[in-house]
Amino acid sequence: MKRLVILISGRGSNMEAILRAATAERWPAQIAAVISNKPGAGGLEVARAAGIATAVVDHRDYPDRAQFDQALAAEIDRFQPDLVVLAGFMRILTEGFVAHYAGRLINIHPSLLPSFPGLHTHRQAIDAGVKFHGATVHFVTAELDHGPIIAQAVVPVQDDDDEDTLAARVLEQEHRMYPRAVRDLLEGRRVLKDGRVVSVDPR
Ligand code: GRF
Repeated sequence: MKRLVILISGRGSNMEAILRAATAERWPAQIAAVISNKPGAGGLEVARAAGIATAVVDHRDYPDRAQFDQALAAEIDRFQPDLVVLAGFMRILTEGFVAHYAGRLINIHPSLLPSFPGLHTHRQAIDAGVKFHGATVHFVTAELDHGPIIAQAVVPVQDDDDEDTLAARVLEQEHRMYPRAVRDLLEGRRVLKDGRVVSVDPR
């Protein structure tokens, strides 16, 4: 049984999508814990209601990034995860943290990377006038919103979109893509090879 730890900072709708899929599709995997850096994150309640262990490592309790990351890693490692899933986790992670989880730390970013890293991606897309936007699931590297791409979902940008309508269209796709990408990794259907993610043919 593979073990997952999911990190959140907010409402946790991507986390919830993963929980639902894991249960509905009877994944041979266990969501071992949901950990938040914010005590008030709405997703914590959702996880608790689903009977999943939760923990809070509040970044405000630590003097710097390195010490926060150390405490966070210690908490994560208690659950011995095969995969650590960032789902709306809004902290920049140190190189040491990323190296510790090399090959087993993934993130979802609401843009078609490498376009629009950073914050306010939907605003960036509208301002740039792109006709397609979307979301990316990727392995985490020390560079922000960077790293081998596992999956991408594309949505059209309409002329009358504002940030909210575009975000909602992208989020719907995130909820489909992220559980699928996690499952593909857990079941070995997608693997990292020479810095890129490739599909493995089922035999
Ligand atoms: C999602 O759009 C995700 O791509 C981004 O932050 C948002 C988190 O939403 N990183 P939620 O907490 O999963 O509902």
